[in-house]
Amino acid sequence: MAEQFSKKNEGWSGRFSEPVSALVQRYTGSVGFDHRLAFCDIEGSLAHAEMLAHVGLISKEDFRAIEQGMGQIREEISSNSFQWSLALEDVHLNIEKRLTDLIGDAGKRLHTARSRNDQVATDMRLWVRATIDALTQALAELKSALLNQAEQHAATIMPGFTHLQVAQPITFGHHLMAYVEMFSRDRERLADCRARVNQLPLGAAALAGTSYPIDRERVAKRLGFDGLCQNSLDAVSDRDFVIEFTGCCALIMMHISRLSEELILWMTPRIGFIDLADRFCTGSSIMPQKKNPDVPELARGKSGRVYGHLIGLLTLMKGQPLAYNKDNQEDKEPVFDTADTVLDTLRVFAEMVAGIQVNQGSMRSAAFEGYSTATDLADYLVKRGLAFRDAHEAVALAVKAGVQAGKDLSEFSLTELQVFSSLIDQDVFKVLQVDGSVAARSHAGGTAPDQVRAQIRRHRQLT
Ligand code: ARG
Repeated sequence: MAEQFSKKNEGWSGRFSEPVSALVQRYTGSVGFDHRLAFCDIEGSLAHAEMLAHVGLISKEDFRAIEQGMGQIREEISSNSFQWSLALEDVHLNIEKRLTDLIGDAGKRLHTARSRNDQVATDMRLWVRATIDALTQALAELKSALLNQAEQHAATIMPGFTHLQVAQPITFGHHLMAYVEMFSRDRERLADCRARVNQLPLGAAALAGTSYPIDRERVAKRLGFDGLCQNSLDAVSDRDFVIEFTGCCALIMMHISRLSEELILWMTPRIGFIDLADRFCTGSSIMPQKKNPDVPELARGKSGRVYGHLIGLLTLMKGQPLAYNKDNQEDKEPVFDTADTVLDTLRVFAEMVAGIQVNQGSMRSAAFEGYSTATDLADYLVKRGLAFRDAHEAVALAVKAGVQAGKDLSEFSLTELQVFSSLIDQDVFKVLQVDGSVAARSHAGGTAPDQVRAQIRRHRQLT
C-alpha cells in the first residue's frame, strides 16, 4: 500500500485548519484491513446508485458512468494495481476518490442520501453473509467426511468413556455421528444468524435517515436482502449480527477443539486407536521417532483466539451510546480473523477426517477393558426379574471378584458367575460379549450398527 500522508485533512478538508499527524493517520486509518470489503462496497454502491437514478436523484448517464468506473476499479483491485492510500483513511473513501478521478462529477454524486455509517454497516452485512455461505459449505464437506468414516465403521467396536474411563462398548461410527450432530447444529445456527444479518441498513444515512425520496426496498431487493433495518439509529449502530456470527464460530471451534482433543488422544501410541495421515503431522527437530498431530493441536489452540474475538466484540459494543461511533471500526479485524480461522480449520479437518486410519484391533481390545459389559449383566438380571439395585450390587460383587482374579466377566465360567446370582444361565455369554452389548442398544439414538446406519441415512437426506 502506498504510504501517502495527507497534507490536508482529505475527505472533509474545508472544516479543518491543520493536517492530522502521520501517527494519527495510521491510528485512525482502516484501509490496511477494510480493503477486504472492497467488492461488497462496490456492490452496495452500485445498488445505491441504481436507486438514485431510478428515483431521479442522479441521471441515467451518471449511473452508467458510475457502473463503468466501478467496473474498472473492480479490475484494478483484482489485478492488484489499485493504489490504496492511507491518506484516504478507509476502503469507502479510497474507492470513491478513485471513482471521481475516473469519471468526474458523477462520482461525486454517488454519496447523495448516504453516509459512511450506513455504507459500512451494509458492507459488513454483505461480507458476513457471504462468509456464512462459505462456512455452511465447509461444514457440509466436513460432515460428509464424517459420514463416510461413520459408514465404514458403523460396526467397529470401541470403548465408550465417561470420566475418561472405559464405560461401555460403543461403535466408532456412533462416536463420529455425535460430531455430525454437533456440526449440524452449527449449520442451523449459522442459518438462523443469516436471517438477522440479511437486513439492509442503507437509507439510515448518518443516523437519522435522509430527506431525499429514496427507495430502500429497491436497494434491498437488488442486494438480495430479506428486509430493511427498521430503525435508522439501530441500523448504523447495531453490530449484534457480528457478535452473533462470531458466537456461532466460537461454538464451531469448541466442537472442533473437542474433536481435536480426541484425535490427539486416540493417536498417542499409548492408545493407538487411529493414525492420521502424515501430511497432517510433523516431526520433531530432535526426536527422529516423533510424529506429532500438529493440525488438531493447532485447531485446539486456535479455538482460543476465536473465543477472544467474541469477548473482544462484546466488550467493543457494551459502552457505546447510540448511534454510530468510531469504535465500530474495531469490529473488522476480529471478524476477518474469525472467518479465516474457522474456514481454514473446517477445510483442513474435512481432508484430515477423510484420511483417518482406524486400528480396529486396539479399539476392540480396549473395549474389553474395564468391565465394559457390567451394565449389560445387570440389565440381563433385571430382565430375569431382579430389581435393578439388587442386580447392580450382584454385578458389583462379580466385578470385584474379576478384579481380584484378573479376569473379565466373560472369562468366568457359568458356575463361577452363578455364585453372584442363580438367575444367570448359559445365554449370559451373549450379553457379556461387546458385539452383543452394542447390538442390544438398538433404539433411536442408540449405538447399535443398524441405528448408526439409520442416522447416516437421515443425515445424507438432509444434506
Ligand atoms: N471506517 C469506518 C468504520 O469502519 C467507516 C465509517 C466511518 N464513519 C464515521 N462517521 N467516521 O466504521
